[in-house]
Amino acid sequence: MFVSLEGIEGCGKSTQIRRLAAHLQAAGRSVVLTHEPGGSPLGPELRRILLSEAFSPGPRTELLLYAAERAEHVDKVIAPALRAGRWVLCDRYGDATRAYQCFGRGIPRAEVEAAHALATGGLEPDLTLFLRIPVEEGLGRARRRNGRSGVDEGRFEAEDTSFHRRVAEGYEALAAEFPGRIVVVDGRGGEDEVFERVKDAVQRRLAAH
Ligand code: TYD
Repeated sequence: MFVSLEGIEGCGKSTQIRRLAAHLQAAGRSVVLTHEPGGSPLGPELRRILLSEAFSPGPRTELLLYAAERAEHVDKVIAPALRAGRWVLCDRYGDATRAYQCFGRGIPRAEVEAAHALATGGLEPDLTLFLRIPVEEGLGRARRRNGRSGVDEGRFEAEDTSFHRRVAEGYEALAAEFPGRIVVVDGRGGEDEVFERVKDAVQRRLAAH
């Protein structure tokens, strides 16, 4: 199974995906937990470039950098793990490119799909969990976290609220477009409460397989 987790800034997906990995491992599954940007061998370097406020690439450059990292990630990490029969849990994947680069930055959808298809050869997750929370809540959380961390990863958090609203609307549109793949999970409430919903969604998908 290839599972991706998606959502706006500060939606809590990194915590939830770590818990899901631990839960599946405890159930005896072999799991690879990875993330974008940053999960490929090229990842840490590209992540630094992509998220630093010191660098402001144009929209097409940004799209192609995410695609380059994804190509490397698919070839070196995701596809080999899936071939070996392992579960791959990925914190962000193609829907992040659709939501941020198309809905957020305004790059035509066909161009975003072309870059994504070139990077992945058409590999899509079996299941995508979209963790839905209100934009103000997520942004507040992400900005506080970034302020505390001392790491220069604030380029997207620094975008205005209207950008993040477009991204959130993008995720809603994608959930409607791919109802067989994307499951919307209510991300509000306590961590444990949200994790119950995440487990439920995975369980239901497994039962349907
Ligand atoms: P991430 O590390 O998930 O940060 P956070 O945990 O704060 O959400 O993602 C970093 C940023 O990269 C995030 O703001 C979204 C952006 N991004 C894109 O714009 N396009 C993409 O294809 C991906 C994978 C991420």
